[in-house]
Amino acid sequence: MPTLMQSDIGLIGLAVMGQNLALNIADHGFAISVYNRTTAKTDEFVKDNPNTPGKLTGCPTMKDFAASLKKPRKAIILVKAGGPTDAVINELVAVFEPGDIIIDGGNALWTDTIRREKELKAKGLRFIGSGVSGGEEGARFGPSLMPGGDPAAWAELKPVWEAVASKVDAQTGVELTGAKPGKPIKGGVPCVAHIGPDGAGHYVKMVHNGIEYGDMQMICEAYDLMRGLLGMTPDEIGTVFETWNQGDLNSFLIEITAKVLKQKDPETGKPLVDVILDTAGQKGTGKWTSANALDMGVAAPTIAEAVFARCLSAVKEERVAAAKALRGPKRAMTNPDRAKVVAMIRDALYCSKICSYAQGFQLMREAQNEYKWKLNFGEIAQIWRGGCIIRARFLQKITEAFAKKPRLANLLLDPYFKKTVKKAQKNWRKVLALAVKHGIPTPCLGSALSYFDSYRTESLPQNLLQGQRDFFGAHTYERVDKPRGEFYHIDWPDPKRPQIKA
Ligand code: 2AM
Repeated sequence: MPTLMQSDIGLIGLAVMGQNLALNIADHGFAISVYNRTTAKTDEFVKDNPNTPGKLTGCPTMKDFAASLKKPRKAIILVKAGGPTDAVINELVAVFEPGDIIIDGGNALWTDTIRREKELKAKGLRFIGSGVSGGEEGARFGPSLMPGGDPAAWAELKPVWEAVASKVDAQTGVELTGAKPGKPIKGGVPCVAHIGPDGAGHYVKMVHNGIEYGDMQMICEAYDLMRGLLGMTPDEIGTVFETWNQGDLNSFLIEITAKVLKQKDPETGKPLVDVILDTAGQKGTGKWTSANALDMGVAAPTIAEAVFARCLSAVKEERVAAAKALRGPKRAMTNPDRAKVVAMIRDALYCSKICSYAQGFQLMREAQNEYKWKLNFGEIAQIWRGGCIIRARFLQKITEAFAKKPRLANLLLDPYFKKTVKKAQKNWRKVLALAVKHGIPTPCLGSALSYFDSYRTESLPQNLLQGQRDFFGAHTYERVDKPRGEFYHIDWPDPKRPQIKA
């Protein structure tokens, strides 16, 4: 195997993401070695891409792969999360030397990343767990990258990661588009930043995916409201989304929603959405985000509702049967003022989006305390402005909010978001009242409003809850007229006896 010119970096796993990221790296002039378990795929990939600006070297074995890399070696793994990642790491350990760097670009569970970093450190190897977002297109022309791990190892990877990441305009935060094979974007601010140590990058990527779940479900609810309340066609709703994409809601997901709604089924000519079965799958990151919120005791109801909405969608047969047994009100309004109701739905979507992101950032704040990370929330919002699935104009506002106040307690308290919700909340409430009246489910839009109302309420009914807990389990309670941390209990079988200080 010729090793005259050694590669700058290597990549293992030539499925869709791996191939696209490898070509993106090569487009930026980096020489890259690639390895895939099935060698035929490696050979085909190298044969299909003969003229990349940076040299592509296909390696038949791990040993050849290691020999082909400049030292300290850098290898990106893009295989399935879990067992396959561990298997590939073990193979690399056998051929790598102390100081070499392994980068996991998969959707790893952050606790696995923490474990792997520790295990590899003991062997003298350095490990970076990096979130990679943007799907196939992002990997090819500019993903959003969320690396976590040893800062010195990051310094080695930085030139490659900054080159291949998506780029945004420094002033406006607008993504720079138009990259083509062999012609990447020049200039702009790369959507990549060192997130923190060990599992921080993969954690932030997980929260990104949780937020993505919320965004997608909320858009679906907005669509369902237009369809149900107003009887609009998918094409008409697509036009509304196109209009929304010109304003504050401008985002990749709104843009593709308009396109999906306007698409006709090539077979029947019907709107494509009408022939797609309404059962959604989920791969795990939304579930992980929600489970972690429960574990840490952080309220992220809107993200969790998005996961539950998919679960309910999955029991299609049960729903079909229930639809016959359980009747509700008429979905359509009588003589609605379409423009007014569409404006209400828009406001509900924007306010709910703010709440959902507020929840995601609360989660990251708590995780940083738990894992002793120092996360830069403004920077995180900034690297989500381009390349990733949740890229949106709105993220610029979050960057600005955290730039003004890095320790902002909740996004809802930032002056811009406060003002926006103040102006829009009347419409948000009105349309949810309509949804309730007409029996249209709005789990995310509704839970976001409950989150907002709970967060802004000084006295919640959990005083009664504490009374109940003290009654049946002697769980004690604190008093409004006594210092926090002093606990009291009533001897409930005989409540006339004096209150006991616990
Ligand atoms: P394959 O082409 O040989 O199946 C996505 O599944 C990618 O990860 C594919 O490139 C696949 O290789 C690779 N992959 C999956 N499991 C693997 C394992 N245990 N070891 C090495 N590569 C693996």
